[in-house]
Amino acid sequence: MDNSKYDVLIIGSGAAGLSLALSLPETLHIAILSKDTLTEGSTVYAQGGISAVANKNDTIESHIADTLDAGAGLCSEKVVRKVVTQGPKALKWLLDSGVPFTKNETLDSDGIEGLHLTREGGHSERRVAHAADASGYAIETTLLERVKRRANISLFEFHIAVDLITSRKLKLLQRNNVNLGAYVLNRKTQKISIFRANFTILATGGASKVYLYTSNPDGASGDGIAMAWRAGCRVSNMEFMQFHPTCLYHPHAKSYLITEAVRGEGGKLLLPDGTRFMDKYDKRGELAPRDIVARAIDHEMKCLGIDSIFIDISHRSKKFITEHFPNVYATCEKFGYDMSKNPVPVVPAAHYTCGGVVVDEHGQTDIDNLYAIGECSFTGLHGANRMASNSLLECIVYGQFCAEDIIKKMDNKKTKAEIPEWDESRVTDSDERVIITHNWDEIRRFMWDYVGIVRTTKRLERARTRIDMLLQEIDEYYTNFRITSDLLELRNLAEVARLIIRSAQRREESRGLHYTLDYPKADLSLEQVNSILDPMRRASSKN
Ligand code: FAD
Ligand code: SIN
Repeated sequence: MDNSKYDVLIIGSGAAGLSLALSLPETLHIAILSKDTLTEGSTVYAQGGISAVANKNDTIESHIADTLDAGAGLCSEKVVRKVVTQGPKALKWLLDSGVPFTKNETLDSDGIEGLHLTREGGHSERRVAHAADASGYAIETTLLERVKRRANISLFEFHIAVDLITSRKLKLLQRNNVNLGAYVLNRKTQKISIFRANFTILATGGASKVYLYTSNPDGASGDGIAMAWRAGCRVSNMEFMQFHPTCLYHPHAKSYLITEAVRGEGGKLLLPDGTRFMDKYDKRGELAPRDIVARAIDHEMKCLGIDSIFIDISHRSKKFITEHFPNVYATCEKFGYDMSKNPVPVVPAAHYTCGGVVVDEHGQTDIDNLYAIGECSFTGLHGANRMASNSLLECIVYGQFCAEDIIKKMDNKKTKAEIPEWDESRVTDSDERVIITHNWDEIRRFMWDYVGIVRTTKRLERARTRIDMLLQEIDEYYTNFRITSDLLELRNLAEVARLIIRSAQRREESRGLHYTLDYPKADLSLEQVNSILDPMRRASSKN
C-alpha cells in the first residue's frame, strides 16, 4: 500500500477527528495527523464536561431553548435541534467506549446510568457529564486508545498540514472545486510530502491563540480555518470569539482555566472588597451565559482599575472541592491559593472560536470531498455565543454525521490527477527568524487590545491597518524562505486574525460575544444574519 494515498485523511486528533475515525468502517484506509503529540489539542484540557440531556427532570426542549438563548439570535434552530437530540446517544457512545465519567458512587447524583451531572452557565438544568475536572483528558485518552487498536488507521504525530490540494489550485478542468489531499510537513525530518486522499477532513480546532491571553494550548492557531479559506471555502461568524470569564490570574499560570462548573457548584464572583456583582448584570448571576459574565468582569475591572476579580467556593468543604475539582485545586495550590480557604484571583481569557469554516449538516464544506468538523467548523450550533460544554457535544455528533456522509459517497468517482511535489527550489533557509517571533507577539497583543471583549470602530480600523501590513510581510517571507512549523502557524494566525477583524468590522451592532461601544445595542434586523466571508469574492467585497 502506498503510504501517502488514503481513503480518508483526518487532519487533527482531538475529540472531533477521533470520533470520526471510530465511526468509519474498518475497511477504509485512514490517516490521522497531529501537528504535535497525538493528545495535544484543546480536547485534552477540557474540564467541565459534555452537555446532553441525561437527567429525568431535563428535556431536549429545555437544552434547545438554553442553547438558542445563549446564541443571542444567531443559532440555526434546525442544527441546534439535531445536535441536542443526538446528545443522549453521543453520551451513551462515549460511555460504551469506556470514558470514565464520574458516577454517583462517589458523589451525589441525579443523572441516568448513575452519572453525576454538573451545571454550567446558561444551562437551566444539571446536564453536564464529566470526569471530575479532567473530562477532556478522559475523552481524548479513551478514544485514542480505541483508535490505536484499529489496524486500518495510521497515526502521524508531529506532522503539520501546510495547505490543501484542490483541483482548482492544480488548474484541472473540473466543474466543481475538488479536494485531493494535503501537503504535509514532517516536523522531525523537515520534509514536505503529499498525503493524497479521497476524503479530507479538517478537525484542527480553534484559533484562540490569536489573543495574548488564552486558555488554549499553543497550537490553537486556526490552521484549518486558514487553509480552508485559502483553498476557497467560505468562513463565517469569526467576530464571535469567546472569552472564558475565569482563568487563574498569576504571571506563571498561562491563563489556566478554572472551570465554570466551580460556579455551577456554588462558586461566587467577588470584587476585591468581597462584594458580589453579577446580579447587577443578569438575573442568573454567576451562571449567566459566558459573554455576559466575561463582559461584566471586564467592565468591573476597568471601572475599578483592578487587575482581577475573585472566584470563591470556600464555603464548600475541602472534601467536596478536592473530589469535584482535584486538578483545579492542585493547580491553584501550586500557585499559592487554597480554594477551600480563600477566594482565587481570576480574569477572562480567549477560549473558543464560535465561527469557522462554513459546513452543511454533515460537515461538508464548499469544496467537494473536503469536510470540517469540531471547533474549526461553523455549523450554526453556537450562534453569537457558545453555551458551555456544547463544544465537545458538537465534536462527537459531527464526527458521526460526517462519517455517515462519507460512507454514502464512498463509491463516487474519484479524481486521478497527478499532484506535483512540493517545490522548494526557489527558497533558502531564513537568517531572520526574529520576524516570526516579533510578528507573532505583535498580532496577539493588538488583537487583545483592539479586538477583545469590548471593541470600537476606531480600534478595529487600527487592527485592520496593522494586520494588512503584517500579512504582506509574512507572505513575502513565506515566498522566500523554507517553511517551518512556526512560520506556518504564524501565517495561519495572521490570516485568521484578518478574518476576525473583517467580520467584526461588518457587524454594526452588539450581539453575543461581539460588543462595540459604537453600536452598543443589538440590531433586530440582523437577527439570524451570519457574517459570511467568501474568498471567491475577496476583491469586490466591502471589507
Ligand atoms: P482539538 O482538540 O483542539 O484538536 C485539534 C487537533 O488538530 C490537534 O490534534 C492538533 O494537533 C491538530 N492540528 C491543528 N492544526 C493542524 C495542522 N495544521 N496539521 C496537523 N494537525 C493539526 N468544551 C466543552 O464542551 N466542555 C468543556 O468542558 C471544555 N473545556 C475546555 C477547557 C479548556 C482549557 C479549553 C482550551 C477548551 C475547552 N472546551 C470545552 C472546548 C473544547 O475542548 C474544544 O472546543 C474541543 O475540544 C475542540 O476539539 P477539536 O477536536 O475540534 O480540536
Ligand atoms: C469549563 O469547564 O468552564 C469550560 C467549559 C466549556 O468551555 O464548554
